[in-house]
Amino acid sequence: MILVLNGPNLGRLGTREPDVYGSDTFEDVVTLCRDTGTKLGEQVEVRQTDDEAELIGWLHEAADGRIPVVLNPAAFTHYSYAVRDAIAQRTAPLVEVHLTNPAAREEFRHTSVVAGVATGTIAGFGLQSYVLALHAIAEMNTTS
Ligand code: DQA
Repeated sequence: MILVLNGPNLGRLGTREPDVYGSDTFEDVVTLCRDTGTKLGEQVEVRQTDDEAELIGWLHEAADGRIPVVLNPAAFTHYSYAVRDAIAQRTAPLVEVHLTNPAAREEFRHTSVVAGVATGTIAGFGLQSYVLALHAIAEMNTTS
């Protein structure tokens, strides 16, 4: 089982700033992640919330269950020490993903307060960022 967790405003993909994020919807992310899971022989559950407390609760659930996570923290990436501290409690792999490449965008997006406690980060490949992250986790599961 792999959890794919998504932070604020990602539920609005498709209508949200399509010039930046493209026209694919959040439902497309869900379908792509599930299909990738099927190919990898892993059950994938995809969730999205605009609420920091809910996201932290899911990260606690992942820590307690030692469940690997693909996480797009969205704007929380840049300022949420609470999300960072929740990630730091886990032992299973956690891959930070971004659709865009934050390093190539506004200055405030250049800082990730979660990157230092993630297993690794994949950014800038659109929806494929999720596919690459799921492959990375599946690879770690089979090689560890
Ligand atoms: C994002 C990048 C963040 O800077 C932004 O706040 C998002 C989406 C991405 O996937 O590219 O909401 O995480």
